[in-house]
Amino acid sequence: MSTPPKGKLPLPELAQMKGRGEKIVMVTAYDAPGARFAEDAGIDVILVGDTAAMVVLGYEGTTVPVTMDEMLFLTRTVARAARRPIVIGDMPFGSFQVSDEKAVENAVRFVKEAGADAVKLEGAGTSVSRVRSIVEAGIPVMGHVGLTPQSATMLGGFKTQGKTAEKARHLVEGALELEQAGAFAVVLEAVPAPVAAEITRRLTVPTIGIGAGRECDGQVLVYHDLLGLSEGHLPRFVKRYANLSREIRDALEHYAEEVRSGTFPEDEHTYEMTDDELVRFSSTSPSATRPKNQAKDSATRPSKMLSPSPESEPPLRKTSPP
Ligand code: KIV
Repeated sequence: MSTPPKGKLPLPELAQMKGRGEKIVMVTAYDAPGARFAEDAGIDVILVGDTAAMVVLGYEGTTVPVTMDEMLFLTRTVARAARRPIVIGDMPFGSFQVSDEKAVENAVRFVKEAGADAVKLEGAGTSVSRVRSIVEAGIPVMGHVGLTPQSATMLGGFKTQGKTAEKARHLVEGALELEQAGAFAVVLEAVPAPVAAEITRRLTVPTIGIGAGRECDGQVLVYHDLLGLSEGHLPRFVKRYANLSREIRDALEHYAEEVRSGTFPEDEHTYEMTDDELVRFSSTSPSATRPKNQAKDSATRPSKMLSPSPESEPPLRKTSPP
């Protein structure tokens, strides 16, 4: 891998944060505005999660259908907008399960074509050798154990994992194997807090929890869940920090109402032309509006500037962020 661009949070900093007991903040994002908001909020890591399948692409209750090409498209938009946060591309179902070679090939695409700084993939077991191969190819990998949505059917649904002593031990072993394979961090999803705490103590690399209690080295939430853009049933581990879907609905209803009643657009949203030009225009287009208090043929009246000349008009859209 090449050196990270100037201003990018260096990846080894995450392990140092663990060492200092400083929490790591991670959030998912799927587009440039989301990445900008995350950056402005001082978020450390952005995951372009395969939850995109559900929260962006409209698949219900599954992350399985999202494709490599869709994930690359979304990751590219995020990577373009995020300067400091580490951007992680989530390897979708089918992109790494087949073989180590296929996994490396697709991880390379995330970095080379989409500008990701690292990739994440689900599972331990066979995923361990995928992680090792990708790391050997020079690409940083984040592991993910506990509830791994891509294998939700095998796990019996979206359920808490590691609730028995034996299953909890299995999770600890899996996380340790991922660390030994070179993972720079491991996501722990929907596991009992004491199990996550034990994994966090045993690993030297950071753990990032989602539904795994407060002892993890960092936390991650899905953008749409924490902002109140997701609707319907949400897992217990989600905390909503805003209710944006209500705000968006209210705004759209208000807009529809104003268009239908003719209240929008108002003068301030409307472009005008000089009286002279309007007179000329209405002489060739009989149904065109004439200047107020002015006969259609009174082209001799001095022109009154109703709006700035085209040269001095501001661009219709800002070309750079505010
Ligand atoms: O895809 C995703 O958003 C994730 C997080 C829930 C960790 O994997």
